[in-house]
Amino acid sequence: MQCKNLVTITDLTLEDVDELFTLTTEIKESYKKGKSDHCLAGKTLGMIFEKSSMRTRVSFEVAMTQLGGHAIYLTKHDINLGERESVKDVAKVLPRYVDCITIRTYAHETVAELANCSSVPVINALSDYTHPCQALTDLYTIKEKKGSLDNVKLAYVGDGNNVARSLALLCAKLNVSYKIASPENYELSAEFLEKAKKIAKNNNTCVEQHSDPKGVISDADVIYTDTWVSMGKEKEAVTRRNDFRGYQVNSELMSHAKKDVFVMHCLPAHRGEEITNEVIDGQNSIVYDQAENRLHVQKALLKLLICK
Ligand code: CP
Ligand code: NVA
Repeated sequence: MQCKNLVTITDLTLEDVDELFTLTTEIKESYKKGKSDHCLAGKTLGMIFEKSSMRTRVSFEVAMTQLGGHAIYLTKHDINLGERESVKDVAKVLPRYVDCITIRTYAHETVAELANCSSVPVINALSDYTHPCQALTDLYTIKEKKGSLDNVKLAYVGDGNNVARSLALLCAKLNVSYKIASPENYELSAEFLEKAKKIAKNNNTCVEQHSDPKGVISDADVIYTDTWVSMGKEKEAVTRRNDFRGYQVNSELMSHAKKDVFVMHCLPAHRGEEITNEVIDGQNSIVYDQAENRLHVQKALLKLLICK
């Protein structure tokens, strides 16, 4: 893997993604056969989490355990990044102890600064701007389910948020058509769209912003949604729930989609808000396989970044 850190999807070359997906399949198959691989024996992952997490925290920690290493979970109370100590000093000291750092925080600049100043790999475990580990898992899962990403069309219904951005960039890179439908004021920014469209054009695919959910899902192979109220936006919850009415992935919307469309969600889901019970529990939903793959993809990522 050429990249040293995973701060955003743009850190990865196409070859990096291919290598990651190939290793993920090897690791997953060998794990399912009960074989152990202790390639990270004696290695430690420092996990800085300033926001809640179930999947990301547990899958990274279990990934280290299964690869023979160890993980240390550090909350805001432990480090108090930027207040008790500067990001730079944390980036200089932690690598004296650990072999890799994951960070989940608010400001994307914090992840970027940590990565710039750290001598060990830094992995973005979600920032307000992007969630690259999720996007890698999502595209890996689609490829696994469909056998290939050729001609795949993904429709995202909802907020132009961190999850939407990393998915757009990875779809553009992997030649997957990406169309997002969002209410007014919740679209991807013009600046971001320009960047994503450029990558998509170079790879003969598209990234498009729309407003009508039915329009984007009608020919889609995958329908993706995420919360209307991301972490850090709690104060806007009432307004957002109102503004996103009409953007729920429910049976009525599904009746306009292809019969074999996959439904994906990064989770946690807010049942009855962005997605209804009958859809998330229905036959098109692959959300739990998607969640499981966080573990396998991140094992491959840790192995590639730490065992350089
Ligand atoms: N999808 C995801 O990142 O879940 P957590 O917030 O539980 O880690
Ligand atoms: N967009 C959500 C994703 C959670 C995994 C958030 O940032 O809260």
